[in-house]
Amino acid sequence: MGPADLEEIIKALEPERNPAVIVGPGDDAGVFALDESTAIVETVDVITPVVNDPFTFGAVSAVNSLSDIYAMGGRPLTALAVLGFSSCDYEPKVIKEILRGAAHILRQADTALMGGHSFEDAELKFGLSVTGTIDRARILRASGARPGDALLLTKPIGVGILSTALKAGKLTDKRMKPAMDSMLTLNGRASQAALSAGASAATDVTGFGLLGHAYNMVRGSDIDFEIKAKDIPVFPGVREFLSSGLIPEGAYNNLRFLEKVIEKGKTSEDERLLLCDPQTSGGLLIALPEASMTLFKEAMGTHPFFTIGRAVKGKGRLRLL
Ligand code: CO
Ligand code: CO
Repeated sequence: MGPADLEEIIKALEPERNPAVIVGPGDDAGVFALDESTAIVETVDVITPVVNDPFTFGAVSAVNSLSDIYAMGGRPLTALAVLGFSSCDYEPKVIKEILRGAAHILRQADTALMGGHSFEDAELKFGLSVTGTIDRARILRASGARPGDALLLTKPIGVGILSTALKAGKLTDKRMKPAMDSMLTLNGRASQAALSAGASAATDVTGFGLLGHAYNMVRGSDIDFEIKAKDIPVFPGVREFLSSGLIPEGAYNNLRFLEKVIEKGKTSEDERLLLCDPQTSGGLLIALPEASMTLFKEAMGTHPFFTIGRAVKGKGRLRLL
């Protein structure tokens, strides 16, 4: 069962019946009203290792878990650790390094680690449940893009393909460095920039790939996204592995799910698979009014971002150009 299905099942339990629920299941994080102006925002995410080094894995997983708070425009405050491991396979030393990596990132994000829970699992898993606060008047939902908005992406894609190559022994940690640095970069700056520039909508790019999360922003709306495949930034080495067929199964699953809502344009199957590559700790995908571009650029400072398309009137589809 995929995470999307879980969200659907929870949604069917109608948590929105509680009047304090402002954003229920289906967005990056849930938002619950505390008073007239403030709400709490909360999320949980747990991943399997994408790198070999335990400290780095803990750090990447922490950045990934914090990302859903930033994708809503929230400010993270507290975190709880969630750890699944096999006690015969992993030494306490390794577990300690994973937690140290997470704690390092949480300090950067000014977020307190309050506790956690571990359980026996055949496969190593680690993540955080994160709680933060959010201004009720400035929530960055996934939906809400308007015709004419520019589509901005704040990190290149391809980490799914790279970690598949790493696991197959075809890539060294050193060649993975640009992707690693990106996975270790908090989306806090991008979130602040989106808020201050008055973005219409935002989400973070994770397991469903760029197209899966883009679709989440338009599904059921009267908006289409026009996405320029050639303008999408990709990490070094990714295209090489792509053409040799080193593609994670998740990319095929994501593309199969989206087949009916994509207009392919002139893109090749390989290109579409790349756009569906599952990301860990990916960037924010932001819909921003054209007039606010300068403001956004200033707020990002030296942090990179890429214009990859625009929102137009439509039927909740993705048009690839
Ligand atoms: Co998300
Ligand atoms: Co998530």
